[in-house]
Amino acid sequence: MDLERYLDEKVEFINGALDRLLPPGEMYPRTVHKAMRYSVFAGGKRLRPVLVMASAEAVGEPGNFMSEALVNTACAFECIHTYSLIHDDLPSIDNDDLRRGRATCHKVFGEAAAILAGDALLTAAFELVSGSGDRENAALVNVINELSRAAGSTGMIGGQVVDIESEGKQIDTALLEYIHIHKTGSLILAAVRCGAILAGAGPMELERLTRYGEAVGLAFQIADDILDVVGTSSDMGKQTGGDEERKKATYPAIIGLADSKEIAEELVEKAVNALEGFDERADALRGIARYVVERRQ
Ligand code: IPE
Ligand code: IPE
Ligand code: MG
Ligand code: MG
Ligand code: MG
Repeated sequence: MDLERYLDEKVEFINGALDRLLPPGEMYPRTVHKAMRYSVFAGGKRLRPVLVMASAEAVGEPGNFMSEALVNTACAFECIHTYSLIHDDLPSIDNDDLRRGRATCHKVFGEAAAILAGDALLTAAFELVSGSGDRENAALVNVINELSRAAGSTGMIGGQVVDIESEGKQIDTALLEYIHIHKTGSLILAAVRCGAILAGAGPMELERLTRYGEAVGLAFQIADDILDVVGTSSDMGKQTGGDEERKKATYPAIIGLADSKEIAEELVEKAVNALEGFDERADALRGIARYVVERRQ
């Protein structure tokens, strides 16, 4: 399959849906809506919404998976992800000036507006899922539960807390894995699971996709750490080299670059193996697993 084309089509579709679903920049109070849109439409690979859709396609009947709930859920994941980036870049967290090839939200709108734009994107996610037409769809409650757990203190926020607390410290690989699985893996795993849930996955399918999502989620953050060392700021659209500067707990810092690459490769294999038994409708998921570690941005 032509993954590049697949991703381009999905990104275009998701961008259109986000534009339709988010409050217009002209809506009062304009500051917060402009700041939300500034960060959402700065670019971004849209990996989490793509995973929602690709996962639904892997289990769903062709043509039967583009429900309003699915599209809104895909957009909800991007809202939560973008919120996490806005807050991650704040002076009190990673203190970054560049994101998605632009000045960070707080650099343009100020810290207060950036914090509030992040908060608004987080809450918009739940408004999108819970308000998506087919409310009799019981799977929506499951999606809301998955989404809130993944974003919360035992998911992404938990990982972010330990990430910050581990700066400048010598930590073991178990704690390092905790950080990565939570700060980044949780949302990626939930994206895969929610797409499958909305497409009516059975327990066995969900179990396999969970193993896929776990492996891809961890691989994604290891690749992010590697790219912070070997990538370029212009490819990445964000400052590279910052992890070393801030003495962040990363895979390259703790186990070295070569071993980090090896683990990332092993995780891709694990992810692809987890999809054994799925037919060609899971080819996009297979391709995405490889893309996650081969990407340059
Ligand atoms: C960056 O995520 C933050 C991490 C969780 C590593 P992405 O690399 O998906 O960022 P965008 O959405 O493409 O900008
Ligand atoms: C961020 O991890 C994970 C989030 C929850 C946002 P990083 O701090 O490594 O992400 P980048 O490198 O700034 O995108
Ligand atoms: Mg961070
Ligand atoms: Mg950061
Ligand atoms: Mg990083």
